[in-house]
Amino acid sequence: MAKTALITGILGQDGPYLAKLLIEKGYKVYGLMRRYSQPHMGNLKFLGLDKTVELVEGDLTDESSLLNLIKIVRPSEVYNLAAQSFVGSSWDQAKLTTEINSLGVLYLLNSIKFFSPTTKYYQASTSEMFGLANDGGYQDENTNFHPRSPYGISKVYSYWMTVNFRESYGLFTTNGILFNHESPLRGIQFVTRKITDGVARIKLGLAENIALGNLDAKRDWGFAGDYVEAMYLMMQAEQPDDYVIGSGETHAVSEFVKLAFAEIGITDWEKYVTIDARFKRPAEVPHLQARASKAETKLGWKPKVTFQELVKMMVEADIKRLQK
Ligand code: NAP
Ligand code: GDD
Repeated sequence: MAKTALITGILGQDGPYLAKLLIEKGYKVYGLMRRYSQPHMGNLKFLGLDKTVELVEGDLTDESSLLNLIKIVRPSEVYNLAAQSFVGSSWDQAKLTTEINSLGVLYLLNSIKFFSPTTKYYQASTSEMFGLANDGGYQDENTNFHPRSPYGISKVYSYWMTVNFRESYGLFTTNGILFNHESPLRGIQFVTRKITDGVARIKLGLAENIALGNLDAKRDWGFAGDYVEAMYLMMQAEQPDDYVIGSGETHAVSEFVKLAFAEIGITDWEKYVTIDARFKRPAEVPHLQARASKAETKLGWKPKVTFQELVKMMVEADIKRLQK
C-alpha cells in the first residue's frame, strides 16, 4: 500500500517542494488549503503538481475541519507547514498569528491523538525561536530560546506542544528547527525574494531602486528544495526527535543584496537601495547560524545548494518570470 501524506500549507513555498519529493517517492499526497474566493495555484503549477496533489479544504483555526480530515484520511504522515509565517506582520496580527501557529498545532495534534494515533507528525519549527540566544555564535538543539517576535513566541508554544504529545502520549512527533530557506517560490514580502524581484525589475527597466530595512541582520540561508529532504528524513527515523537544519554559514542582508546586483553586472549597489524605516522591526533577530551536526550524523542530511547558487537561481528565475 502506498504511503499517504497530508501537507498543510500546500500553496506556500515549502509545501510544493515537499509534495514533489513525496510523490517521487511513491506517496499519495493530500494538500490542505483554506477556502479562497480565487485559489492561487502558482507555486504548485511552477513544479507541475497542480493535478497530482489532491487538495482538501480546512483551516488550522477551525478544529472541527481538522478532526474530520484526519478521521477520513488517516494519513501515514502529516507535515504541518501551514502558518502565518511572516515575522514582520506578527506584531500587528499577534492574535491571528497565535491562533494559527499555536492553537492550530494543538488542534492538529489532538485530531491525530483522537483519530489516527499511528500517524507521524512533523512540526515546522524555526530558528526564530532562538532570537537573541546563541552558543558561541551558533544555534543548535541545546541552545535556549529567546524569541523576539509574536511569530517566534507562537512557534515556541507549538514546538513544546509537539514535544509534549510525544512525551505524554507516545505519538511520533518531530520538530524540524529550520533556518531560513528560500527559492524562486518564496513569498514576495520576504527579504530575499523582495531583493531578487527588485534586481530583476531594475535590470529590465521596470524599477529604479529597492526600499529595504535593516541591512545588518545576519541569516543562515539555504535552498528550500534541500530542506524538505531533511523533513522527510526526520519522519523516516526510527525514533522521533528534534533537529536543527541549516547551512552553518551566515550572511548579512547587505551581502545578499550585493551578490544579487552582481548577477546583473552592477557593483555600486548602494546607489539602488534606499532605507525605509517601515521595513525595520520593533525587535530584531541580529544573528542566526546553525550548527546542524546532529542532522548530519543521525540523518545523513547536508545542504547541496550554496549561498551563491541560491542567489543566482532566484535572480534568474525572477528575470525569466518578468520577461514572460
Ligand atoms: P509560506 O510560504 O508562508 O506558506 C505557509 C502556508 O500556510 C500558506 O500556503 C498559507 O496559506 C498557509 N496557511 C496560513 N494560515 C493558514 C490557516 N489558518 N489554515 C490553513 N493554511 C494556512 O511558508 P513557508 O516558507 O513555506 O514555510 C513553511 C513553514 O515552515 C511555516 O510554518 C513557517 O513558519 C516554517 N518555517 C519557514 C522557514 C523559511 O525560511 N521558509 C524557516 C523555518 C520555519 P495561504 O496561501 O492562504 O497564505
Ligand atoms: N521582509 C523584509 N523586508 N525583511 C527585511 C527587509 C525588508 O524590506 N529589510 C531588511 N530585512 C531583514 C529583516 O529585518 C530580517 O532581519 C531579515 O531581513 C530577514 O527577513 P525575512 O526575509 O522577512 O525573514 P525572517 O528571517 O524574518 O523570517 C523567515 O525565516 C524564519 C526562520 O528564521 C520566515 O521564513 C519565517 O517564517 C522563518 O521562521
